[in-house]
Amino acid sequence: MYKKVTIEKIKELKGSNIPFATITAYDFPSAQLVDSLGIPIILVGDSVAMVVLGYESTIPVTVEEMLVFVGAVSRGAHSSLVVADMPFMSYQASVEEAVRSAGRFIKMGGANAVKIEGGASMTKQIEQIVCAGIPVMGHVGLTPQSINQMSGYKIQGKTREAAVSILNDAKAVEQAGAFSIVLEGVPAEIGKLITEQLTIPTIGIGAGPHCDGQIQVYHDVIGLFSGFVPSHAHQYENCKEKISQAIKTYVAEVKNKSFPKSQHYKTLSPDTLKSLRDLLK
Ligand code: KIV
Repeated sequence: MYKKVTIEKIKELKGSNIPFATITAYDFPSAQLVDSLGIPIILVGDSVAMVVLGYESTIPVTVEEMLVFVGAVSRGAHSSLVVADMPFMSYQASVEEAVRSAGRFIKMGGANAVKIEGGASMTKQIEQIVCAGIPVMGHVGLTPQSINQMSGYKIQGKTREAAVSILNDAKAVEQAGAFSIVLEGVPAEIGKLITEQLTIPTIGIGAGPHCDGQIQVYHDVIGLFSGFVPSHAHQYENCKEKISQAIKTYVAEVKNKSFPKSQHYKTLSPDTLKSLRDLLK
């Protein structure tokens, strides 16, 4: 039986009064955890470059590196739909390369769909990937892979012309066959407008409360990242502090000899110990 949340089910989330929450994950245990909470989509974001690999932007991460993370998440997620983020330069150069890269994430990574940044300029790629039987999630507004072109992580669509351009991008992505779309870093009114005008679910991050769903980066939500935390992120827990406390306690217990305790190791039988001692005499 197919236990995965389907593309059909994701599309049905459009227009519900109750927004849905999605989150990123990058490894097996976090995927298992998120999956167990009934979250419909797990995005293996290229944000892994920053929050796991320590790069300053998402640009350096490669398809080969992403495949390791996508594989781990796919093995941990039995019901959530796993979306693999296509990294920078795995789809921009040509439609053929885009289809081949997307195919690797499905065939080798075990993902169920891919995500592509960009609007009207990416429609050929989206169309052909969809034609190959691979569902595509779009991503418009603030597109971090274009940080150099955008001169930094800036809110997009703040003028009338810029807003129209993002709206057209979103429509083009829908028209090309995407099943959902991430709206990142746009004013809330633009998030609302696009959500109203599209028939596919919008998933906001820094795009206001009117999107059909929201997405957050796992490390931001649980407070596990000490680098730059964007203003759209909300830390619900300080796991960094909790983990640090746990490790400090472990170190202290090793030093004061209260770890390991008898349940943490095995001992030889008295007979074996005696015969060993005799042998070594
Ligand atoms: O890479 C990522 O995590 C993303 C989300 C922030 C949408 O693209």
